[in-house]
Amino acid sequence: MSSHDQPSLKGREVQRTFDKVTDYYDRMNRLMTLGRHAAWCRDVAASAGVPPGGSLLDIATGTGVIALAALERYPGSAVFAVDFSERMLAEAANKPGASAVTWQHADANDLPFDDESFDAVTHGYLLRNVDDVERVLEEQHRVLKPGGRVVILETCPPRGLLRYPVSLGVRVMIPLLGQMVARDRESYAYLQRSTLGFMTPQEVVAILRRVGFVSMAWKKRFFGTHMIISARKR
Ligand SMILES: C[S@@+](CC[C@H](N)C(=O)[O-])C[C@H]1O[C@@H](n2cnc3c(N)ncnc32)[C@H](O)[C@@H]1O
Repeated sequence: MSSHDQPSLKGREVQRTFDKVTDYYDRMNRLMTLGRHAAWCRDVAASAGVPPGGSLLDIATGTGVIALAALERYPGSAVFAVDFSERMLAEAANKPGASAVTWQHADANDLPFDDESFDAVTHGYLLRNVDDVERVLEEQHRVLKPGGRVVILETCPPRGLLRYPVSLGVRVMIPLLGQMVARDRESYAYLQRSTLGFMTPQEVVAILRRVGFVSMAWKKRFFGTHMIISARKR
């Protein structure tokens, strides 16, 4: 039995947190990003560059926003979406158009797919929730076909002049919105901590390089608190 058959302690806590916030997830995301999240997900899908009739895997799909954007962008392609929260998957699978996506329960540490299965892999807000970013990116490298792309949407700590006001805003607003909208300050305090505590794009790019990816590119969004990174498997 591999050590990843069951999520780690942190994994189980993350799973519980997302099971708890499912009902409010989309609404909170719209509020926290002032409505920008859907556009970033479309950008992630567009950057994946899936060829006609190709395949895409969206990991940590949550309520499926990236997977559904990919389906719209690449009609006729095979879109697979995985998450280890059953409640998030059920929410995703109930959305309009969702029956064309293959939804599957899986842990990002141990993907249930053969080597070189997909033309593209995407994920939003996965990496800051895992114990070992390098291992998770290695798994993605394994399931990508040669030449395939990975596209990552993630939060990052703000830098430069805006660093202090933006950090303060995140620290105050996210738990407050969590309390007001979801009546769950604790779960959103976790999201606030993981947002400010995650890596810079340069740090993620360095890991992508170690894992074997090439052609890395990144851009920041939303006052430097979000990043979209893409890379290619040789
Ligand atoms: C913040 S949500 C993001 C959902 C979606 N990607 C988006 O952009 O809205 C993070 C998701 O990652 C999932 N997740 C976290 N760690 C995971 C892991 N190790 N394996 C699979 N899913 C994971 C959680 O269950 C949750 O649904």
